[in-house]
Amino acid sequence: MRNPMAVLLMALAAAPHGVNAQDLAHGKAVYDLWCAPCHAPGRKHPGTQALDIVYKGEKPGSLEQRLDLTPELVATFVRTGVSIMPFFRKTEISDTDLADLGAWLSKPLER
Ligand code: HEC
Repeated sequence: MRNPMAVLLMALAAAPHGVNAQDLAHGKAVYDLWCAPCHAPGRKHPGTQALDIVYKGEKPGSLEQRLDLTPELVATFVRTGVSIMPFFRKTEISDTDLADLGAWLSKPLER
């Protein structure tokens, strides 16, 4: 790779903007507070139960066990809501909280 700009762009693509271990830990804390009551593993959580039915075992019912989530998908659901899932206001989950939450849910190997 001779083009320094291309090298820089590849490095930026490989290291998502500003996400570090502290951000991921914060993302998990946001998840534990707002999402785990519905999305933690186990049948007593309504989100996990609903997604078990939606995916019929093709994907894990619990969000924290999913390998296919992206920050964009997480952000869409969090700001819009679906079925019994409420949407969350920026006073509840700020844009920074949401970025860290999306990063944590999208990085299964670093959880
Ligand atoms: C009151 C329970 C509840 C809470 C709290 C909740 N959810 Fe949900 N969520 C659901 C339910 C139920 C569904 C499945 C709806 C359906 O498709 O039938 C869902 C679906 C989703 C989906 C879509 C998954 C897919 O593959 O279709 C995402 C992403 C999601 N929730 C993220 C979150 C995040 C992130 C939080 C925390 C900020 C959160 N949810 C909080 C109940 C909840």
